[in-house]
Amino acid sequence: MTNRPLIGVFDSGFGGLTVLRELLHHLPGADFLYLGDTAHLPYGSKSQAAITRYTRAAIRELVSRGAELVVIACNTASALALPSLQDNAPVPLVGVVGPGAEAAAAIVPPDSTVLVLATEGTCNSHAYAEACATHGLQAVEKPCPLFVPLVEEGWTDGPITEQIADVYLQEALAAAPQPPQAIVLGCTHYPLLRPLLQREIAKLDGNIPIVDSAEATARHTVTLLPTAANPGSAEPRLHFLATDAAAKFQRFAPRFLGREIPTVELITLED
Ligand code: SIN
Repeated sequence: MTNRPLIGVFDSGFGGLTVLRELLHHLPGADFLYLGDTAHLPYGSKSQAAITRYTRAAIRELVSRGAELVVIACNTASALALPSLQDNAPVPLVGVVGPGAEAAAAIVPPDSTVLVLATEGTCNSHAYAEACATHGLQAVEKPCPLFVPLVEEGWTDGPITEQIADVYLQEALAAAPQPPQAIVLGCTHYPLLRPLLQREIAKLDGNIPIVDSAEATARHTVTLLPTAANPGSAEPRLHFLATDAAAKFQRFAPRFLGREIPTVELITLED
């Protein structure tokens, strides 16, 4: 028996492992059940109806396996599905958009403009713009659809990725009403591009700080489960579920999580 809380983490696939990495760092006294919906990856270009259906089924699965809080690690699902699922959820749901906006607000002057890099779905929902507006900030939302496939291919550096990042950043800066004071990484995959983005933005517009919504989300989760911030005597127990491509999941995991994972259980989600 254990009195360690079990935190469910849901993502469209592997990218949410960057959020799990931060959760493990900030909540060492919790156990984690991670579900990657690899059968439907990527979410960034899918409809709101489909994403809401997948997210609802995933939450049901995680809760049925004992999760007492679910972190929606996928920015696209946080932006498009979370608002309609939150009220009737059987356990608290934590999304990544609110904490990301709050973290940006903590480091910029009032009335600043922030640049949000995210998927098309997240940008079109304007969830970050709304969350930033609650802190008095203006958000320029820039879809970067090539970043997810580049990261999945392991192309997190090199001239091609640099060139693509450069085009996205130049377009975003040209669209900004005033120079942005921070950049929010509004997609689970983008933290792996952080060094490259920091370098590219330095060439274009000086040293704009980068906010990672994964870290902000982990800090927010601590406020909901403060006892899990204490490490306790045992190592966190981790269990991984995927809806497809379990072997690929296992192979990709170290790149996102920073450690090997032992096994991945293949499951089917009922709509
Ligand atoms: C995706 O599934 O397309 C990317 C995940 C995210 O939006 O964070």
